[in-house]
Amino acid sequence: MRQPLLEVKSLTKHFTSKQGFFSKEKVVRAVDGVNLTVYPGETVSIVGESGCGKSTTGRCILRLIEPTDGEVFFEGQDIRKLNETELRRARRNMQLVFQDPFASLNPRKTIGQLLEDPLIIHGIGNSVERRKHVEEMIQIVGLSKQQLDRFPHEFSGGQRQRIGIARALILRPKLIVADEPVSALDVSIQAQILNLMQDLQKEFNLTYLFISHDLSVVRHISDRVAVMYLGKVVEVADKQSLYEKPTHPYTQALLSAVPVPNPHLTTQRIILEGDLPSPANPPSGCTFHPRCRHCMDICKTVAPVASEVSRGHFVTCHLEQS
Ligand SMILES: Nc1ncnc2c1ncn2[C@@H]1O[C@H](COP(=O)(O)OP(=O)(O)OP(=O)(O)O)[C@@H](O)[C@H]1O
Ligand SMILES: [Mg+2]
Repeated sequence: MRQPLLEVKSLTKHFTSKQGFFSKEKVVRAVDGVNLTVYPGETVSIVGESGCGKSTTGRCILRLIEPTDGEVFFEGQDIRKLNETELRRARRNMQLVFQDPFASLNPRKTIGQLLEDPLIIHGIGNSVERRKHVEEMIQIVGLSKQQLDRFPHEFSGGQRQRIGIARALILRPKLIVADEPVSALDVSIQAQILNLMQDLQKEFNLTYLFISHDLSVVRHISDRVAVMYLGKVVEVADKQSLYEKPTHPYTQALLSAVPVPNPHLTTQRIILEGDLPSPANPPSGCTFHPRCRHCMDICKTVAPVASEVSRGHFVTCHLEQS
């Protein structure tokens, strides 16, 4: 049996906030018991509507924010139990690529400095070795050595994302969590960046956790896809099963909204009624029930558990409970 690179068990993140002195504390259940396994070399995507908890899940996995509960094993080690020094060492192997590369790049530093910083922080090489490494990396992502002395604002959106990727890769990590890495880019540039990410995955033996709100974006690059709704994974399957046999009514609705060539699916658009409920006040039972076209009585009171409908294809829905 292959060992997972990343194993997430019952991951939970609740944000608490208080509006006023006399008001009750509000609990936002941003991530509510997520289970996810990622094997080396895989691309697993997390998809779902805005606010369903994708970024929070990614950030908890890298421990950029502290989870409320649950376990995150990276190469078998529970990263929640690591102290500062151990965590810094582990972070060499797990890096984040952001949606907005401009916001994540210090505008006062040159690209050369931005790429060298992680090497300095981790005490890697002397200045000559680091410069050589930085020059190699900028060319690997399709830019030139001459561009290293420029500042972030001198680059286009697509070029900045190349820089963001170079910065994430400079420490030769094993896992990249890419949070909406192409959402801010034009469609033609999106394809270039996705192709680059795929080439780099092969070259550097990378594992990707790819976060997106768009099922059509992740179709090409994913091996497996997890669909999130209100802090929970409602369906997870390999790409083929998910796109050809979407089983959870929420996945079916999401898929019906994107142009995916699939003769097995009706082309009729399934309209999701109502907005995404607030994770501060989630519906009872199955949290999807108020918007579900198959809602039954049980759905309003009992939360469904995940069941395996075919090998590796898990669905959390009362229609599939055996
Ligand atoms: N620091 C915070 N304090 C309070 N609530 C937060 C915080 N960060 C996120 N949330 C809430 O948690 C929920 C999940 O947010 P998250 O950013 O993970 O969603 P997302 O799926 O990444 O959405 P998007 O597609 O818009 O990026 C949202 O309701 C959000 O308002
Ligand atoms: Mg997000």
